[in-house]
Amino acid sequence: MTAVLMGIGSFLPPVTVTNDDLSRTLDTTDEWIRTRTGIRERRFVSEGISTGSMAVTAGERALRSADVSGVDAVVVATTSPERLCPAVAPEVASRLGLGPLAAFDLTSACSGFLYGLATASGLIAAGTADTVLFIGSEAFTTLVDPADRTTAPIFGDGAGAVVLRRGEPDAPGALGPFDLGSDGALADLLAIPAGGARQRSADGGLGHATVPTGDWYLRMAGRPLYTQAVERMTQSAQAALKRAEWSAADVDWFVGHQANIRIVRAVAEELELPGERVAVNIDRVGNTLAASVPLLLNDYAARGDLKAGQRVLLSAFGAGLSWGSTTLVWPEIRAESVD
Ligand code: UT7
Repeated sequence: MTAVLMGIGSFLPPVTVTNDDLSRTLDTTDEWIRTRTGIRERRFVSEGISTGSMAVTAGERALRSADVSGVDAVVVATTSPERLCPAVAPEVASRLGLGPLAAFDLTSACSGFLYGLATASGLIAAGTADTVLFIGSEAFTTLVDPADRTTAPIFGDGAGAVVLRRGEPDAPGALGPFDLGSDGALADLLAIPAGGARQRSADGGLGHATVPTGDWYLRMAGRPLYTQAVERMTQSAQAALKRAEWSAADVDWFVGHQANIRIVRAVAEELELPGERVAVNIDRVGNTLAASVPLLLNDYAARGDLKAGQRVLLSAFGAGLSWGSTTLVWPEIRAESVD
């Protein structure tokens, strides 16, 4: 038995920030951001909206899409948690009225959705849960220095959720074999130095050194990450295809993590997938980390571009470094459009 997709939902916060908005306060231009990243606008969380509330709304929509009122476990992938402790998943489960069930968070940055799918599949395969609500939710713009032109234009906020159930491996929506990997030797390429146990104190109290303000924000080495992203996503996607016994010609849609349009296109080119089979929404949402892949799936399904029976290749790469890929045949499910 394996995990089968039976519902999907997503949420975008209402505040839209365009490249022109950013260039009012940052030394950048719409032209630079568009041509280097493919991003035109992104959403920002605002008062009253955060990782937990976005997860609840996306989760509600996924439950509605699956036409179920209960599940056996809730997993939230996020690298922008509400608080360092506790995990947000129990609160999300509680706010959704799902009862005292298994609920936990998972941190795997931009590959969080692939790691989460694999984890949810594991819960189902082991018989721990028959149904899982899995949500990727990110308010990562709150962790990015608004004055840093090398990171501020790239990220956006949002959430995407899926409901998975136990089913046969040949059922439509059944997740294929996974390829997952990591390289912790390159952890510093994308990191937020402070806030965790290693570098925690803001005031130098308790014998800790004072933390420089910039260490509370994301630090990113864009160029080397770019190279790693193309290489790792390509290799991972190829490994998942091989395990599923698919060739690139079998793939109707490549749904890759939206970090940079140039990365997505370079990976597709390496995989010999033509542009018309490459799903893209980075222009409207930016890089939303663990929410990226489900937001993209929801977008394409809601407007009818992603149809039942089509073969989908999912792949993601991010901080850790970490990466992952899998395959599925899209099932007959309802997806609501989010603006
Ligand atoms: O989500 C998964 C993990 N993240 C990634 O995979 C991100 C991977 N990296 C990237 O997507 C790209 O490296 C970036 C979009 C971050 C940067 O694009 P790039 O083409 O690699 O630019 P660069 O960092 O090499 O910078 C080129 C120039 C530099 O100026 P000089 O040194 O050539 O004079 C930068 O200072 O562009 C400058 N620059 C900017 N100029 C205008 C950097 N950011 C900006 C900006 N506006 N916002």
